[in-house]
Amino acid sequence: YAGRLSLAVLLIFGLCLNFSAAAWSATWKMALGDSNGSPQHEVGKKFKEALEAKTNGKYKVTLFLNGQLGSEQDTVNDAAMGTLDMSCLAINNVTPFSPTVGVLSLPYVIQSLEEAAMLTQGEVGRELTENTIRDAGVRIVAWTYTGFRVLTNSKKPVSTLDDLQGLIVRVPKNEIMIDTYKSWGINPSPMAWSETFTALQQKVVDGQDNPYLTINAMQFYTVQKYITPIRYLFSIEPLIISEQLYQSLTPEMQEIVLAAGREATSHSQKFLADSEAAIIKDLTENKGMEIVMPADNEKLWIEKATQAVWPKHYKSIGGKEKLEKVLEILGRPQQ
Ligand code: MLT
Repeated sequence: YAGRLSLAVLLIFGLCLNFSAAAWSATWKMALGDSNGSPQHEVGKKFKEALEAKTNGKYKVTLFLNGQLGSEQDTVNDAAMGTLDMSCLAINNVTPFSPTVGVLSLPYVIQSLEEAAMLTQGEVGRELTENTIRDAGVRIVAWTYTGFRVLTNSKKPVSTLDDLQGLIVRVPKNEIMIDTYKSWGINPSPMAWSETFTALQQKVVDGQDNPYLTINAMQFYTVQKYITPIRYLFSIEPLIISEQLYQSLTPEMQEIVLAAGREATSHSQKFLADSEAAIIKDLTENKGMEIVMPADNEKLWIEKATQAVWPKHYKSIGGKEKLEKVLEILGRPQQ
C-alpha cells in the first residue's frame, strides 16, 4: 500500500511539474507584412530577442515575414480571435478595426520622428492602446517608426496636383487615405498590402505611397521610378498582441511583454534615425529612383487634404477635441 501511495504521489508531483512547465513556456507566432530588413522586421527581432532573454528562453517568438500569415488587416482579426499571437503592421491597417487611432494618420498632423515618438510613447499612445483593446481585441505593445510615406510611380515626375491627375495610385483599404487622395483630385485604388507589389509589377496600378525604408526593403525600386517626398503621413506600425493571450499571462509575464515592447520601440526610433538618409542615397544613386520635390513646399497638397479630410473624420477619431489635443501637445494649436 505504501509503495502504491508513494508512486501516486510521485505521479501527481510529476504531473504538476509538467503542467507548470507547459504553462511557463510557449512559442508565439508573429506575423509581419514586410520583408527582411524592414523596420517591422527590426521591431520583431528586437522584441523576440528581449522576450527570450528575459524568460531564459522559455518563451520564444517565431517571425513570419512577407504576409505569410495573411494580409495585414486579416492579422488583426486573427489576433483578436486568438488564432494568431502577434502581428506588426502599418497603423493604417489597424484603423479600420480601431478607428480612434486614425488621429495619428490624419494628413499632415505628425511632422517628424520626434513628434511620432512623443505622441505614441505618451498619454495619447496609452489612450489609443486602451481603445484598441476595447475596439479591436488586440493590445499595442510596441511602436515601429518607419518615416513619411512618399509617393512613388512608374510613369512621370509628379510635383504638382495637376501632375498627379490621371495616375492610378494604390492605397491601403483606409478611409482617411482614400479621402486624402480624393481631396487631391483622383480616385485611388484601395488594395491589400500583400497584393501591391504584383499590382505595380503588372502595371494594374501606376503608383503607391510608403516610406523610403519600406520601398527599399520590399524592392519597390524594381517596379517604380519617380519619388515625390510628400509628408502627409508619418508611418507608424504598431506591434500588437492578442488580448486573449495577454490576459492569460501572469502579471509578471505581462510586465515582461511590455518591457520587451519598450525595448523594441526604442530600437525602432534609433533604427529609423540612423538608416533613412543612407537608404535615400542608395535608392537614388544606385537603384535608379529619381526624387521630384513637391511644388511650392507642398502648399496646395496640404491645404486640400487638411480642409477636406480633417472635418470628415472628426467623428471616427472620437471627436474634434481629440485632434485639438494632439495638435496642442505638438505645440501647434488649431486656429
Ligand atoms: C500598406 O501600405 O498597406 C502598409 O503601409 C504596408 C506596410 O506594412 O509596410
